Amino acid sequence: MTAHEVFFQRRQAAAVLKHGILSRYPRVFATLTGSTSVGGRVVYLDGYAGPGRYEPDQGQDIGAPGSPLLAVETAAKVAQWAREVCCVFVEKDPTYADNLRRVLGDEAPATLNYHVLEGSLEDRLGEALALAGESPLLTLLDPFGTALPYGQMLNGLFRRGDDLKTEVLLNLNLESVWRIGGLLTGAETDPEQTTAGRSATLQRIDRFLGGDWWRATFREARESGDAGSAAEAAQQVATEFCKRVEADSGFKSFPVPIRRRPDHHPLFLMILFYRHPAAPYMFNDSASGANKDWREHFRQADLAEELAKQELQPDLFGAEFAIEVSDNDARRIEGEFDETWTAIIASNIRDRLTESPIIPVETRFSDLYGPTLGLAREKHLRAAWDRVADDGLAEPRNRQEKRLRRQSIVRRQQDRAP
Ligand SMILES: C[S@@+](CC[C@H](N)C(=O)[O-])C[C@H]1O[C@@H](n2cnc3c(N)ncnc32)[C@H](O)[C@@H]1O
Repeated sequence: MTAHEVFFQRRQAAAVLKHGILSRYPRVFATLTGSTSVGGRVVYLDGYAGPGRYEPDQGQDIGAPGSPLLAVETAAKVAQWAREVCCVFVEKDPTYADNLRRVLGDEAPATLNYHVLEGSLEDRLGEALALAGESPLLTLLDPFGTALPYGQMLNGLFRRGDDLKTEVLLNLNLESVWRIGGLLTGAETDPEQTTAGRSATLQRIDRFLGGDWWRATFREARESGDAGSAAEAAQQVATEFCKRVEADSGFKSFPVPIRRRPDHHPLFLMILFYRHPAAPYMFNDSASGANKDWREHFRQADLAEELAKQELQPDLFGAEFAIEVSDNDARRIEGEFDETWTAIIASNIRDRLTESPIIPVETRFSDLYGPTLGLAREKHLRAAWDRVADDGLAEPRNRQEKRLRRQSIVRRQQDRAP
């Protein structure tokens, strides 16, 4: 079995977070951008689509949905609000492409407009873009290792038109960067790999990152001593990559780290490249919801382990009790997160208000969230604002305006404090 086959055999913890984002953000994109597009049409291009569904876990009849089936769910959901999502799936592996066609044939609604393009994204991007036309386009790039060559990504996606609504979600594989980077520093040695093989691998990543600039960034980060781990060096490469994309295309970026376990280095960065100022605010809410799914995934895995132990060696209290304890713990822990994050954001609001009398939420939200970015979401910001308003330091929010991001937090005049 190849590593790629293992990948689809079982949805890994990292995929829970990725799919948590993919089941939320494309809906937001389609809803917002489809409000002004012709016929509410929006295109979702899944450039590295995979087989559509994962293999079932032990004891399950059906595997978890892969990114294409999440896109189908998105399309069905937003159809209720007169948005028509056209899905374009590109998959290089003929077996996966066949499987994908079968899964979609079985599970996609007859009304869904979708296309499966078999072959590499490099070869099929032109057709995919022709299908997108001038509609808003959200592209997911979720390869195993490196994605499209940089020039093709820049010209095909980021420069498809200044007036066209375009966003790109890149799942950047940090682990590949640090493994391949290890070839430069000698940390990664594969006796099977020839010098020519090594240099071809390095050139593949050069093409994706847009030149060999990353080699110096990686080496310097490794040699800097302090945090000097390969994972940290890969993150620095990713940060520099995002800066380069912005310089070359004007697209800003918002990265969300994807880890296997909470105390692990990020293995991936799910990066949203965007132009619209509302995008990062909405993406943060999606990431926050996905992080909650991810915590729940670990709780369920730990509970399943506990119940399996109980089956072998029943204790006095039994399985029902173990489930109740786990449920109560989860509620308590989530409650503690809510409180901690709200307190951090409230403290940030107070600090920012000492510097400036007006804080527009949409443009300053990342300052307001601070270290809770990607974890906290709008409900925490709302609660924090209410807390600061109750203290008499800020004007209360406008409860008639549903979109908090459109409001500004205004310092209350001292003579008006309660
Ligand atoms: C990480 S998997 C995608 C997983 C999928 N997005 C999901 O979440 O269910 C990457 C997929 O890209 C496919 N692939 C690899 N190189 C490709 C290329 N150049 N163009 C299109 N697909 C490619 C692989 O066969 C594999 O199915």
